[in-house]
Amino acid sequence: MSALTIVPWVIGNWKMNPTGENVQTWTEQFNQLLQQQPISNESCHLAVAPTFIALSQVQHAFSQYNRTVHTVAQDVSRFPATGAYTGEVSADLLKDSHIQHVLIGHSERRELLGDHSEILRAKLTNALNAGLTVIYCVGESLTQRENGQAEQVVLQQVQDIASVVAPDQWASNIVIAYEPIWAIGTGKTASAADAQAIHEKIREGLSQITDSSAKVAILYGGSVKPENAKEFAACPDVNGALVGGASLNAESFYHIAAAFAQSN
Ligand code: 13P
Repeated sequence: MSALTIVPWVIGNWKMNPTGENVQTWTEQFNQLLQQQPISNESCHLAVAPTFIALSQVQHAFSQYNRTVHTVAQDVSRFPATGAYTGEVSADLLKDSHIQHVLIGHSERRELLGDHSEILRAKLTNALNAGLTVIYCVGESLTQRENGQAEQVVLQQVQDIASVVAPDQWASNIVIAYEPIWAIGTGKTASAADAQAIHEKIREGLSQITDSSAKVAILYGGSVKPENAKEFAACPDVNGALVGGASLNAESFYHIAAAFAQSN
């Protein structure tokens, strides 16, 4: 089963970058590019995930644009609502600040910050209860890939959240991002054929969980650049990109978005 027509998503994950001054230059440059050669809301969803301290600056800049660019939080607390949880930001507080999207399960958080499946389920539950849209990241390590376990690992990561996502929430509130860990920040990418093969398996896996599997956007992430974006965009089950390094440059990010918009 392949995807129905899904409007692609191109999302920039800025990780622990950049400074406020650079944020302003970026948002101005990106706006200029969009004005010179518009990308319609109908052809591509656009979004950027800055650090927590830059969320409102970015959100304010995007509110001046002629088209929608979503502001995405890079994480959310496993603790609900409000309370004595120093350093945490809850889903309710994100919602209160009009942040509607959140990344959950990025491999850097899984590997470096202890986000295991139980924590991820708590985060997801809070985000969904607040009505947020979750970009849920999955992906295998190099060793897992070399041992032929890529598909199994990724499907298990999808299965890990099945108990906390209602069947009707898959299409409306979940975007999946397949990010093979060995391709993140390394300059190595999965080939478009490899990405398509895993995306197809993810969609097959989703079809065991929800009737809406054909409507769930599955993004590829891992060294996506303007030079390779078209190849990924041409794959029927690659419904967009989660872009790290290349998203820090407004022009590169624009060209990646344009490639996906044109493929739609
Ligand atoms: P790179 O595009 O820098 O490889 O990062 C991918 C990523 O981790 C996006 O979330």
